[in-house]
Amino acid sequence: MALAKPGCQGYDAAMTTTRRKIKIVDEVSLANLFPDHVDTMESRYSRALERAGAGHAVVFSGAPLPVFLDDYNYPFKANPHFVSWLPLTSTPFCYVIYTPGDPPVLIYYQEKDYWHLPPANPEGFWTAQFDIRIVHALEDVAKHLPEDREKCIFIGEVNDEAHAFGIDRVNPGTALNMLQFNRSVKTGYELECMRAASRRGVKGHLAAEKAFRAGRSEFDIHLNYCKAVGHAENELPYGNIIALNENAAVLHYQHQSHEKPKEIKSFLIDAGARFNGYASDITRTYAKEDDEFAALIARFDALQLELVSEVRAGLDFADLHLLCHLKVARLLDEIGLAKGSADTLIESGITSAFYPHGLGHLLGIQVHDVGGHMGDDSGITIDPPSGHPFLRLTRLLEADQVLTIEPGLYVIDMLIDNLAGTPGYALINQEKLDWLRPYGGIRIEDNVRVLEDGCENLTRDAFNR
Ligand code: GLY
Ligand code: MN
Ligand code: MN
Repeated sequence: MALAKPGCQGYDAAMTTTRRKIKIVDEVSLANLFPDHVDTMESRYSRALERAGAGHAVVFSGAPLPVFLDDYNYPFKANPHFVSWLPLTSTPFCYVIYTPGDPPVLIYYQEKDYWHLPPANPEGFWTAQFDIRIVHALEDVAKHLPEDREKCIFIGEVNDEAHAFGIDRVNPGTALNMLQFNRSVKTGYELECMRAASRRGVKGHLAAEKAFRAGRSEFDIHLNYCKAVGHAENELPYGNIIALNENAAVLHYQHQSHEKPKEIKSFLIDAGARFNGYASDITRTYAKEDDEFAALIARFDALQLELVSEVRAGLDFADLHLLCHLKVARLLDEIGLAKGSADTLIESGITSAFYPHGLGHLLGIQVHDVGGHMGDDSGITIDPPSGHPFLRLTRLLEADQVLTIEPGLYVIDMLIDNLAGTPGYALINQEKLDWLRPYGGIRIEDNVRVLEDGCENLTRDAFNR
């Protein structure tokens, strides 16, 4: 098959050349931590290659995806396995080649192009760890690949076989399961990047709260957020959730209304930021007035912190999710939204109607990072507990994993209506429901690093700086 013309739409040259500097990280400590990160990557890949019975890993950054019947591409999203080697998030058609015993090779594709700005020459703290080969034509990649393609495994998405250069073993499960399982445990370098992503995200959250207090529309709040974090929309780790009033009850609310509501009562913001490819994923909820809803947010914040205080190595995350249902049940009874014992409110499906998502997920290069259901590095999976299909993390926690803790409480009429005709329905206080409905709901989400006997709260540390 002929090599596809790569085209440059989707390149985000700004990510590799000029970008507004936001002081959120100690560059020297990042540089000092990076060699150990590469050592860890090498040992993980050596074990994966051994298990796959292969001699070389070829990790592809990816190709931009063209829009149907158009000559533009979707925004480029790099293969996370490529980004875990080095902080290049916007350079398609690049390859990392790892052969145990040799320094990793980076084939850096710098297209000769006058329509778009080609990627700048590689520079920065990470370059010393790589044997960098710059190529200006895709055909030249082949010269730098191991000659014996039979001994290679290819890690990445292949939409055009030409980009695999004759490597047949694409994403073999033997190797991939191991790489995905291990990616949940972060290196010192990755943790520093994730702290920086949290600090950057918190800058946006503070700007967004200010815009909310000034009575701005969802769209304006969104723009203020992007400006404060220094991200164009495509650089955000996920689409911002900027929800005023009852929109806060839509879990992944995807619009940003230009209209200002007549009365603004509440604001839920779920928005993150990136640093060197690593994401933060932060949610806060605010009341406009110092009223009963504000008191409920404070109560819910305490509940969230109680859950955070349970996090430690060895904990079964599914148990923590179930503990959250117990706490939500007690809260519903305490504030009179539903009356009954915790067991009754859980068994009758009431807590699931008010809190219909999982307590959290692994976080890293991907916002919902891979491997949340993996029981080990061979591909065995652990299903969520029955009745909790949306729980994305079912593993036993290990030190240096990073994950979210994000309990929620919403008025979602579709789910309440589903209970009609069941014994639980009568336990719901409709008057109280009518009171809460215009506020939408509450979610509070922190990013935490698991420690042997507790956790580091990246989000609260960033807010408290
Ligand atoms: N921002 C999506 C989530 O919290 O999982
Ligand atoms: Mn999340
Ligand atoms: Mn979130």
